[in-house]
Amino acid sequence: MRMKNLFYTSLLFLLFLATACKNETKPEAAATQSKVNITQEQYGTLPDGQDVEIYHLSNENGMSVDIITYGGIITSWTAPNKAGDYENIALGHDSLQHYLENNSYFGALVGRYGNRIAKGQFTLDGNAYQLATNNEPNHLHGGIKGFDKVVWTAETSQGPEAVSLILSHVSQDMEEGYPGNLNTKVTYTLNNNDELKVDYLAITDKKTIVNLTQHTYFNLSGDFNKTNLDHEIMIAADAYLPVDETLIPTGEIRPVEGTPFDFTQAKAIGAEIEAENTQITRGNGYDHCWVLNNQGSMRKVASAYHPESGRLLEIFSDEPGIQLYTGNFLNGSLPMFGGEGTYQFRTGFCLETQHYPDSPNQPDFPSVVLTPQEIYQTTTTFKFSTK
Ligand code: GLA
Repeated sequence: MRMKNLFYTSLLFLLFLATACKNETKPEAAATQSKVNITQEQYGTLPDGQDVEIYHLSNENGMSVDIITYGGIITSWTAPNKAGDYENIALGHDSLQHYLENNSYFGALVGRYGNRIAKGQFTLDGNAYQLATNNEPNHLHGGIKGFDKVVWTAETSQGPEAVSLILSHVSQDMEEGYPGNLNTKVTYTLNNNDELKVDYLAITDKKTIVNLTQHTYFNLSGDFNKTNLDHEIMIAADAYLPVDETLIPTGEIRPVEGTPFDFTQAKAIGAEIEAENTQITRGNGYDHCWVLNNQGSMRKVASAYHPESGRLLEIFSDEPGIQLYTGNFLNGSLPMFGGEGTYQFRTGFCLETQHYPDSPNQPDFPSVVLTPQEIYQTTTTFKFSTK
């Protein structure tokens, strides 16, 4: 969502700061009556000497979310099952070293452009830009060193019912080939309703493209040795974007009705993931963007339910699209959190709210262009409960 026609860049910037800090209260004052909490400790050091911190967010019910400043990565996220047991439901690794060695985007903030751009090419006002083709032959998730691989600057805020971690990053003009200095703020807010809200804000000093998302891999069973196939997914979308052999949308907006892509009624991931269907074959499962219904408003866009544990995840967003990726590239090579195992094929799934892949080259898709006169602002909320 882009807010247009505000007065001057400086005013814009003030508004940007104010929006980012709007829930802030004095930590000392709030902490006395609040059972929501945020603490911080050193997590590791990068080869270049930069320190990485880990923030622990927790609420009065017992939900906790651990986030590191490297990539804004959620390394652990606990949610209750129907017996009230809190277990980690987000795939992650044990150490900074494992995050540096592996490139799965586990739990990460993804930008400047989440998802793929065909051949890494786009034009703006007649200027041609070439981005890294780090997912041959295409650009994926911001390039070689995307927002998932930078150290974000952190601030915290605490209110009576919620705590926030505010992460900032300035992506320089032409960093990873994108034009414009992009000033980005992502705020993670955990509240006592077991909701984690992710607010994204960005401003630029030159026309650019932006598409930020969050790349948590969920497994609501709490056991990462189990596949995701029994999770029942609902996606509030009557259409999806078929892709070519390189996972770039063909431009067609295809109805889901009567296809394995129909998740308008909750359905197990495994129900039709082996169906004979060209699109399923191309994604090696689901790795597609759905065209969400009721665009332009904050609404429920998807849910995931794990019958055995009773965990229900509901996702609310103002974004036009959502990528369901069913962990089809997981192949037993990535080290597991808290154990000695590795993550096997289709043990995690991602529901990434976003604009459509390759939008810069698809004039009929909602625009991802951000001008210096606009603010990029979008929100996605992940809510847990049991049933
Ligand atoms: C996204 C993509 C997938 C894959 C994963 C990361 O969800 O759509 O194809 O690249 O990220 O492995």
